[in-house]
Amino acid sequence: MRKQIVAGNWKMNMTKEEGQALISEVVNMAKDEVKANTILVLCTPAPHLGYAKRMFQSQANVFLGAQDCHEKASGAYTGEISAPILKSFEVDYVILGHSERREYFKESDELLKAKTDQALANNLIPIFCCGESLSQRQAGSGFIEFVCGQITNSLFHLSAEQFAKVVIAYEPIWAIGTGLTASSEQAQEMHAALRKHIASKYGELANEISILYGGSAKPSNAPELFACPDVDGGLIGGASLKSRDFIDIAKALK
Ligand code: PGA
Repeated sequence: MRKQIVAGNWKMNMTKEEGQALISEVVNMAKDEVKANTILVLCTPAPHLGYAKRMFQSQANVFLGAQDCHEKASGAYTGEISAPILKSFEVDYVILGHSERREYFKESDELLKAKTDQALANNLIPIFCCGESLSQRQAGSGFIEFVCGQITNSLFHLSAEQFAKVVIAYEPIWAIGTGLTASSEQAQEMHAALRKHIASKYGELANEISILYGGSAKPSNAPELFACPDVDGGLIGGASLKSRDFIDIAKALK
């Protein structure tokens, strides 16, 4: 059985007070409402990582995530945060290759390869994002190959043992923060293609890899998306900032 995961990507939102309130609401609701085998991950801005873990230590299925890490272990890189620093704050997961970082910070497949290596070397679980732009989707062909290529370029150097630890998040860029969601057919088509692509390199292991959907997921569309056989949860942006919505999305998991 693949891990079923709903991860919240807070992006650059939430002051300390807002963050603390949100975490305590999520933890309280999760206790009563979310299945024990559903994994919740809260990917907060870095300053929240210092206290957040303490707030859900009693809740075995809630984990802490960062939104990025540097490709080097340490050094003179003002403003950056390394994987060893994250691990020392008991971070469990790290989002890598989010389309906002690919676009605004010019993160390449090659750089993300190095970041993935850093994350894995420090026992962080990468939530590796991939996805096509609107113009690539509208071109009508080639977008599946493009997304599979992102996986090849950044992850196919991993050993099977390493790859087994990675979580994939398919996030069509045209659906992120736009209110447009991929239809369940579009999501299933891409998730199945990604799994087949992973199988071409890693065989049966592909069936063990969780592939999350991201892009304007909300309580109203989560049940249909999560019903797809190859969708194993979601990476949630906007809706993760509201405890009720985030928990309702998590409850939609199979
Ligand atoms: P969204 O963001 O749910 O607000 O579309 C998803 C993401 O960027 O991870």
